[in-house]
Amino acid sequence: RKILADELPGAQVIVVSNREPYIHNLVDGPDGDEVELVVPASGLVSALEPITRACNGTWIAYGGGSADHLTVGADDSIQVPPDRPSYTLRRVWLSEEEHEGYYLGFANEGLWPLCHIAFTRPVFRTSDWETYQAVNRKFADTVVKEARNERPIVLVQDYHFALLPRMIRERLPEAIVITFWHIPWPNSEVFSICPWREAILDGLLGSSIIGFHTQFHCNNFIESVDRFMESRIEREDAAISYGGQTSLVHAYPISIEWPPVQLETLPSVAECRRDVREKYGLADDVKLCVGVERLDYTKGILDRLRALEDLFERHPEWIGRLTLLQVAAPSRGTLPAYRQLYEECHRYADELNRRFGRNGSKPVLMVAEHHSQRQVYEVYRAADLCLVTSLHDGMNLVAKEFVAARDDERGVLLLSTFAGASKELLEALIVNPYDVTMMADALQQALTMPEQEQRSRMRRMREIVRDNNVYRWAGSMLLDAARLRKRGEMERATA
Ligand code: F6P
Repeated sequence: RKILADELPGAQVIVVSNREPYIHNLVDGPDGDEVELVVPASGLVSALEPITRACNGTWIAYGGGSADHLTVGADDSIQVPPDRPSYTLRRVWLSEEEHEGYYLGFANEGLWPLCHIAFTRPVFRTSDWETYQAVNRKFADTVVKEARNERPIVLVQDYHFALLPRMIRERLPEAIVITFWHIPWPNSEVFSICPWREAILDGLLGSSIIGFHTQFHCNNFIESVDRFMESRIEREDAAISYGGQTSLVHAYPISIEWPPVQLETLPSVAECRRDVREKYGLADDVKLCVGVERLDYTKGILDRLRALEDLFERHPEWIGRLTLLQVAAPSRGTLPAYRQLYEECHRYADELNRRFGRNGSKPVLMVAEHHSQRQVYEVYRAADLCLVTSLHDGMNLVAKEFVAARDDERGVLLLSTFAGASKELLEALIVNPYDVTMMADALQQALTMPEQEQRSRMRRMREIVRDNNVYRWAGSMLLDAARLRKRGEMERATA
């Protein structure tokens, strides 16, 4: 807020994302239909929500909840958060065909597997691409409508909107468009298989700033531009000049709010431990391992089950003394790759429970249900260790949330080397999820780690998340945007 006031006075902040921060659904209640409020399982939402709140901005998103239309005013907007309104959520309505082609099709069957190394083949359909373009145009219309003047700051989020920056630039040439790509960017060889690669790069290069989580992904993006676009690249400044405009390409590692608001109302760690153990019927001497994510093939859920199996085979002393609570929020469930993963995870968990279950205790509790942020933090606080074993991940905020939840400085984090978070949280036990033996050895190390070592590792990781919190993430982008605007003004004045 201070950076906005000092460096960009009077600027209006508009966030655009596919996923909305508050979803209203119609559910069956005792007296008929009721409206239920859901905060979605999304790192993007947990990061952007405190920022939008802090600057009283406008958030434009797809209104996907079954009761969303019942809660908005005539301008399709609602003030949120519901308990302490501080910003405007403007919903964009999409038809079933639009949602299918743009979100399920092009974004999640095309770009998602293209950008993640998980060996799932991307599917590119011309009809999906056409819908993706049309939906990006629809969001551009909404941005223009919501802009109070010619110079808003528009924060475009993620791979659902690769074309939006250019569309905004054409209609609001003086806007600052900061695009953040929340997922990895592939190398130029992989990127080249996308049939519309030039159009995607052209769209993104409408941005003033293009942000990624890591320098490695920035480098991949710059290489892709170098290979496919007629542009001038100044590598030292990470600046790309294309079509008479300059875009900066920078790494801004995303983070979470510090201290997390969830901790304000949660009971002590001891109480969370007791409550979660009671809820899942776990004896006191059973170690609790947790995994929390959307049920997605990039998250390495099957790989952690393999590691668990290996651990039980080589260290049978853990049989009956260790449970993995896998919170797996249902996600993109109509797509074949996700349906298949759901079945495989449940089949594998059942098999492990048959082989290694003892006296009613199960080694794997697969809970494929949505959990509120409060429930998730309760689980983090109850756990002895947290597993983040993504095959590939932009950042992964679960790792940071787990650390933030542990104000008792206890618990161990196992973290994939292929998640951006592993470049910051060096005190985690860093693992390669493809190496089952290594993962099982790391589990053994975590389960037997002395308290003092847990404490010193956790303390260091907490300092890092505290110092590099989400306000710093947004602040550095806004500062860079302010510098760009000043430079443009000076250039215009001296021209
Ligand atoms: O961070 C990647 C991301 O796709 C976000 O864009 C999104 O909000 C989150 O994961 C959850 O995915 P979805 O919105 O498809 O449920």
